[in-house]
Amino acid sequence: MSGVQGRKVLVTGASSGLGAQFARTFAKAGAAVVVAARRTDRLAALVDELRAGGATAHAVALDVEQEASVIAAYDEAERLIGGIDTVLNNAGMNAVGLSVEIPIEEFDKVFAVNSRGVFLVAREAARRALKAGRAADLRIINIASMAAFHVIPGAVAYNGSKAAVAMMTKSLAREWAKSGINVNAICPGYIETEINSDWLAEEGGKKMVARFPRKRVMPIDALDGIALYLASPASASVTGGIFPIDDGQPL
Ligand SMILES: NC(=O)c1ccc[n+]([C@@H]2O[C@H](COP(=O)([O-])OP(=O)(O)OC[C@H]3O[C@@H](n4cnc5c(N)ncnc54)[C@H](OP(=O)(O)O)[C@@H]3O)[C@@H](O)[C@H]2O)c1
Repeated sequence: MSGVQGRKVLVTGASSGLGAQFARTFAKAGAAVVVAARRTDRLAALVDELRAGGATAHAVALDVEQEASVIAAYDEAERLIGGIDTVLNNAGMNAVGLSVEIPIEEFDKVFAVNSRGVFLVAREAARRALKAGRAADLRIINIASMAAFHVIPGAVAYNGSKAAVAMMTKSLAREWAKSGINVNAICPGYIETEINSDWLAEEGGKKMVARFPRKRVMPIDALDGIALYLASPASASVTGGIFPIDDGQPL
């Protein structure tokens, strides 16, 4: 028993990579899952897959850059499964380039998705839970990165935006602790997904992996255990935690 049976989980950025993996893991563990992203065709295919496995699953369109879209996604989740008590705040992006060259619009977009988007999604969950008197049951799990603490070269906006997620996690946890809301962050090392597969296929990427102590990226299910834990009764007293899950890659 994982402890998340019957929980109502919103997974942002569920159209690929880690988000799709979180959706599969929580659905398998008996949670009702609402998957959210911009590419709704992919979400529909995922929902079909999860339902075929016997899960309660729904898709909602979401652009975390747009506050109206965040509000609409929670409205839809309320209509579909009666609200959300667990948030996998996972949507994210990267922009590669030297700091002297990166267009400021790209820099802004990375922060708009990775930092501001994470804030909007967390805040809307908290607003609704507080209003409904359900705050003590709300778990927010932000997906930061080991880049919050360790420099990924050529990714100034990504690194800065993920450091912001780590500190926002502590700030929100502190502000909402008295209401019972738990806010934690997972800081993963490299797992191959669409965000990094091109880089990992390049010579530079291969050399980087060869320098990791275990000379590998992590498997796609590497975060399952910590995510289930942070959504389960076993972590009731855990808030403001920053959890590196990185296979020792930055050591
Ligand atoms: N893979 C790794 O090694 C690694 C390591 C550390 C941290 N992370 C973090 O893990 C999270 C998931 O990344 P991933 O590896 O699974 O990469 P990915 O496969 O590229 O997935 C990123 C997801 O974010 C969604 N997204 C991007 N912009 C969005 C927006 N404006 N609104 C809503 N959704 C948006 C994308 O969906 P749509 O394009 O359909 O909207 C996609 O589902 C990210 O926050 C990433 O920074 C990944």
